[in-house]
Amino acid sequence: MDKATQTAPAKIRTFRSRIDIPTTTRIPLVELLNQQLANTLDFYTQVKQAHWNVKGSQFIMLHELFDKVAEAVFEYIDEIAERAAALGGVAMGTVRMAAQNSMLEEYPVSAVTGEEHLNALAERLADYAASVRDAIEKADDLGDADTTDLFTDVSRDMDKYLWFLEAHLQDQFPEGNKKDSSKE
Ligand SMILES: [Fe+2]
Repeated sequence: MDKATQTAPAKIRTFRSRIDIPTTTRIPLVELLNQQLANTLDFYTQVKQAHWNVKGSQFIMLHELFDKVAEAVFEYIDEIAERAAALGGVAMGTVRMAAQNSMLEEYPVSAVTGEEHLNALAERLADYAASVRDAIEKADDLGDADTTDLFTDVSRDMDKYLWFLEAHLQDQFPEGNKKDSSKE
């Protein structure tokens, strides 16, 4: 996942604030938050795409599961954007901004069946969750316990929802890490 190592766009505007975090620290934190805002917005719309388009005998169960995931992701969009603003930054939160900055692959329009949507979402959720875990480390390195805590909340929830999705597919890779084919 080369895209996960990319950095956020450099153009950052900050407002003066009484917050006890120096501007030199707030700028990279706002960049980090905006990168995650783009990823989170993009992932949210991808889950809704699956919610609207899944077909097959498990339709109602998957339609509802995907909406449950989307609702959880939607809450974090607001929290991440508001943290960027709280640090004196500008939240880059339009759909077009997200599309430009997201690290995630576009959702496949070819997905139809439950299994196709589960696989497409699990792949993207795994990439998204990896980017969040990376953001936890970066926020921690910058000494911001609150942003670290926010990303940790997101990460724990995304690991849970990856489990929910993968539990439907588990017969395909009963052991080991799916990306480590040598262990399968
Ligand atoms: Fe709906």
